[in-house]
Amino acid sequence: MNSCLQFLGEFARRPFTTIALWPSSKALSKVVANCCDLSPGGLIVELGARTGAFTRLMLDRLNGQGRLLVVEINRTHATLLRCRFPQSQMIQGSAENIRSHLGGRRAACSMSGLLWGNMLPQTQDRVLEAILESLAPGGQFPAFACAHAAWFPTSRRFRGLLTRHFQRLEITPVVWCNLPPAIVFRCWKRDSAFAGRPVLNPEFAGSSQPGMPEVWPVG
Ligand SMILES: C[S@@+](CC[C@H](N)C(=O)[O-])C[C@H]1O[C@@H](n2cnc3c(N)ncnc32)[C@H](O)[C@@H]1O
Repeated sequence: MNSCLQFLGEFARRPFTTIALWPSSKALSKVVANCCDLSPGGLIVELGARTGAFTRLMLDRLNGQGRLLVVEINRTHATLLRCRFPQSQMIQGSAENIRSHLGGRRAACSMSGLLWGNMLPQTQDRVLEAILESLAPGGQFPAFACAHAAWFPTSRRFRGLLTRHFQRLEITPVVWCNLPPAIVFRCWKRDSAFAGRPVLNPEFAGSSQPGMPEVWPVG
């Protein structure tokens, strides 16, 4: 309930820039967590955790077998998250500076709770560059996006960046059980053996539901 009140407060203050109306649902959190291959001892990063919907599920999945580092820019959210999840390492700061918190390590997976459609182009570039540099080769990057914002110029730009910079991109079907409904981009960083163009997983190519832009051409 507190999480929902936080969201309503933010929506009341910034009605035209708040895209996400409610904390991420369990259904969306599950889809995002399913996009991370967890191996014992792995390092997982979460960017923009706000109420900690993804954080809670990821800590359950890790079950003490790996490390979760959370980066949240908002001081109030970060303080609350630190109290809620003492098992994770909570950093109050920008995702743009993620490398400075990793101490030279690379993450196996970087989950994004960031609203990419709300970002300025130069911020998208800086944050994505930091993510790419902090991921291990072949590392995964799941990022949710609000389905209704898919055609915003900034959302289309973000999709273009993903297709250019990652080796592989999958787009999940719409998660309807979320307010607003969302999709998840699942991306893999290039590994050293890769020399080709990005590919879209053919498994997902036929999964569009009527009227929903779930699969886009790559390249
Ligand atoms: C849509 S909310 C996350 C939703 C979250 N999955 C939940 O269910 O509560 C986006 C969060 O990203 C944070 N954020 C925005 N820009 C950021 C940045 N550059 N670095 C880190 N966090 C950022 C915001 O403060 C906000 O808490």
